[in-house]
Amino acid sequence: MKQRGRDSWRQRSAMLGVLVLLLFFRAASAQLRYSISEELKEGSFVGNIAKDLGIDLNVMKQRGFRIMSGSTESLFKVNENDGVLYANQKIDREQVCKESNVCLINLKTVLENPLEIHYVTVEITDLNDHSPTFPEKTKRLEISESSLPGAKYQLQNAHDPDGGTNSVQQYKISQNDHFRLEIKDRGRDGKTPILQLQKQLDREAKSRHKLVLTAIDGGTPPKSGTAEIFIDVLDVNDNMPVFTKDTYSAVVQENAPVGTTVIQLNATDLDEGSNGEVVYSFGSDVKDKIRELFDIDSVTGEITVKGHVDFEEQDSYDIDIQASDKGSIPFRTDKSVIIKIGDTNDNLPEIEVASLSSAVSEDSRSGTTVALISITDLDSGMNGKIISYVTEDSPFTLTPSMQDNMFAVVTKSQLDREQQSRYDITIIAKDAGEPALTSEKIISVFVSDTNDNSPKFSLSPYTFYINENNPPGASVFSVRASDRDEGDNALISYHILRNAGHENKEEGI
Ligand SMILES: *[C@@H]1O[C@H](CO)[C@@H](O)[C@H](O)[C@H]1NC(C)=O
Repeated sequence: MKQRGRDSWRQRSAMLGVLVLLLFFRAASAQLRYSISEELKEGSFVGNIAKDLGIDLNVMKQRGFRIMSGSTESLFKVNENDGVLYANQKIDREQVCKESNVCLINLKTVLENPLEIHYVTVEITDLNDHSPTFPEKTKRLEISESSLPGAKYQLQNAHDPDGGTNSVQQYKISQNDHFRLEIKDRGRDGKTPILQLQKQLDREAKSRHKLVLTAIDGGTPPKSGTAEIFIDVLDVNDNMPVFTKDTYSAVVQENAPVGTTVIQLNATDLDEGSNGEVVYSFGSDVKDKIRELFDIDSVTGEITVKGHVDFEEQDSYDIDIQASDKGSIPFRTDKSVIIKIGDTNDNLPEIEVASLSSAVSEDSRSGTTVALISITDLDSGMNGKIISYVTEDSPFTLTPSMQDNMFAVVTKSQLDREQQSRYDITIIAKDAGEPALTSEKIISVFVSDTNDNSPKFSLSPYTFYINENNPPGASVFSVRASDRDEGDNALISYHILRNAGHENKEEGI
């Protein structure tokens, strides 16, 4: 095999057909050169050796023309009858010549008596019988979504055993929005495809891209080979948590047990891994008072009751909430949550006596006020709506006053001290809650006396006898009268009324 500079042979190697170069060594030596294409059928004509060397066919036979044995001997054979060199088998240029671009096979032919050696060189020209292939059919690349346009990523070279222009000449990348292909020409070391980012990637829009890289050789027709390029887009923390609702509000009943769920918030973050993990918390300005009443689960966003919520103390809360991701530079979103407290009937009506007469005169007209009371209930709605009354069997009743929640206890019939001088009035206040709560209060009213009873003698008339001759001053008889009234109204003085023809005169006894 003749080794010469590859480049100088490159053009010649492209030539097809039979090229004869004759160099005849007078000193019993000659050189012939043939050029055939690879992959010819077994038995294909290579050249007419007898004619080209000027050897008579008979002489050839007599002098035992042969190809000297060697590694390439079996590739060719000479027919002694016609002096033609034939291909003894199908010749694969890439197998015989491996890497080199120009493939020359040197044959030594011999004639005996006298010894004559002729050198015959057969050039095997290339056929485009191989497609470019990539060492790996699929290739993975990881590119951060923060990579800027212009960033370059070297891809694998395709390999094509064919020589010259039949080797890889160009690369193409499949249609896509983000990349273009650049080709670096390394001269004899071939061409290298380089992926260049043209438009920034967005993992949240598309996390994986698939490209097809095609290598094309320069044959006629050209052959090609492909490899798949998978690009995994690496996440950066470029999204903030977003609450799934614009506003959050909830109602929780007062006195709800600790642990009761009030509301569950939900924020999502399109980023991946810790960049997309959301943590919930109260805003930094949220007061301790609120933190004592409510709790927020940092993982689930669930707000629960932690303390005693009392409608009567505060009936709604407006709480700042934050959702943050766990990126190395976290993003944070603020939101406020309105929690309304629902009333439950947990307050008794309260009865208070504002004023109470020490006594009411028995001759008072009906409708006379004996007391003013106020009735309040801290609950709201039906829970705070009060019905109030006094127990039936009493000469008193309740009437509403001009003022809210104020009632007057008034007489509703004539009183009679002599019949009942003291009343214990039971006032009932009942709210309209479900179930209703009831309070009662007892007030005592005293009836004061008026002089509405006359003294009455124990007997009337009195009949008695008196002895004659009784000494003056001696007791003859006693009378007794009583008066149902009280105090001075019951003080009795006695007089004798004289008439019947005598002086008409009253006289104390
Ligand atoms: C939060 O919202 C997302 C998106 O709507 C949903 O897939 C997820 O199940 C929600 N999480 C909860 C706890 O409701």
